Amino acid sequence: MPLPSSRALAQELGVSRNTVLTAYQELIAEGFVVSRARSGLFVNDELRSHGPAPAGSPGPPQAIDWEGRLRPESDRDLPDVAKLPDWQQHPYPFIAGQVEARSFPVLAWSRALREALHQPHLHYSLRDGIADDDPLLVEMLCDRILPSRGIEAAPDSVLITLGSQEGLRLLSSALLGAGTLVAVEDPGYLDARHVFVRAGASLVPLPVDGAGVVPPADLRAADVLYLTPSHHHPTNVTLSIGRRHNLLAMAQRDDVVVVEDDYDSELRYQGTPSPALKALDTTGRVVYLGTFSKFLAPGLRLGFVVADPVLIGHLRRERRYSVRHPPGHLQRAMALFIGSGQYHRSIRRHRAALRRKWERMVDGIEQWIPFPVTPPPGGVSVWMEGPPELDAVALTDGLAEYGVIAERGDIYHFDRSAHRNTFRLGFAAIDVDRIPEGLQIVGRAVHDQLAFPGPAARRR
Ligand SMILES: Cc1ncc(COP(=O)(O)O)c(C=O)c1O
Repeated sequence: MPLPSSRALAQELGVSRNTVLTAYQELIAEGFVVSRARSGLFVNDELRSHGPAPAGSPGPPQAIDWEGRLRPESDRDLPDVAKLPDWQQHPYPFIAGQVEARSFPVLAWSRALREALHQPHLHYSLRDGIADDDPLLVEMLCDRILPSRGIEAAPDSVLITLGSQEGLRLLSSALLGAGTLVAVEDPGYLDARHVFVRAGASLVPLPVDGAGVVPPADLRAADVLYLTPSHHHPTNVTLSIGRRHNLLAMAQRDDVVVVEDDYDSELRYQGTPSPALKALDTTGRVVYLGTFSKFLAPGLRLGFVVADPVLIGHLRRERRYSVRHPPGHLQRAMALFIGSGQYHRSIRRHRAALRRKWERMVDGIEQWIPFPVTPPPGGVSVWMEGPPELDAVALTDGLAEYGVIAERGDIYHFDRSAHRNTFRLGFAAIDVDRIPEGLQIVGRAVHDQLAFPGPAARRR
């Protein structure tokens, strides 16, 4: 049946004809009603039970099975580092991966963000750079940041990333796949392992001692060697100069790519930071990953890769088809922040604040922790290796009840069950004045567990 004429409907409803005409036009525009020449307006046939079902359709509609469609995640057997979203609510957050909001240079950073929205910077803040980075930020890195790590780099050997994590992922997609092998530190950075394994690679563990990773006899089977030489993650030991030369020579001989994750080298409280491994590299096989996460804030998601221009070009194209580039506004603001001298000022302030925390950590550990600990000369955490009978998994679980967040250490090892006596106390996020009290609670809990072992510990 045709719909009533506009005149009839207007009369029936007691509204003006224009109102009905407008309503009909809207229904036509949205496809509910079609107009047939010389016959009038009709309800669109396609609307009847949402149109005819395609031939061969099964019965009633069913919810899509997403689980069945998703590719299996190859890293599902690796543990994830537990990230507590509400860590600021706890009085003693001994965690390493966050920063205290109070220490962030809010005024200087907001000035840089604002300035980046004025001429001559606005274009670089707003443009679609496609594959390009902000040339001013690249210049700042080459002139003011990398030289302090002993690295001389030309602009075409730098790529800005959304943190080291993106650098690792881009590298993995460029260099890794099924059948490739990455040699990694054991214990070591879990998030990097996830990225490598997700790219299809297999891992080979290299043990770590007080002088950093122990060089193996050879690296012939490996495609990539991933290292955290400045402050080993998670123990914070520094790779000795002898081993650096040894590993570079071995990488050269066995034709291996070395990935240097230099995530917190500036945070050194005794002695000076050792130059980057990249600074010793004469063959272009070291790929350097830097980040602003530890010096400023991880939430800014800004980092960089320094490598041979051929590799950088490839990573740039890979990045183009994922995120194009990190936000232009952030890049320009960071460039202005560095250029104004605020970046280096803020690192100095941040380092001084961390040094005060580190000193409290050293004193408190000496006073309260009932087993020997060698505090590292830098970094943002202290690695704790208790006596073999300590169950640090139960310990860190139990500490949460007292508002103390400490990270279990077993998950960073290939053989987790052999390292249940390890844990990590980060001090980047905790208030300096809470450190002694927090360590006292940790020390008491360790003491209690060792003095009165629970059934699990007694069985070991
Ligand atoms: C070994 C290591 N590399 C890199 C990072 C920083 O990663 P991103 O730059 O992605 O924040 C961290 C932070 O926890 C880390 O521990």
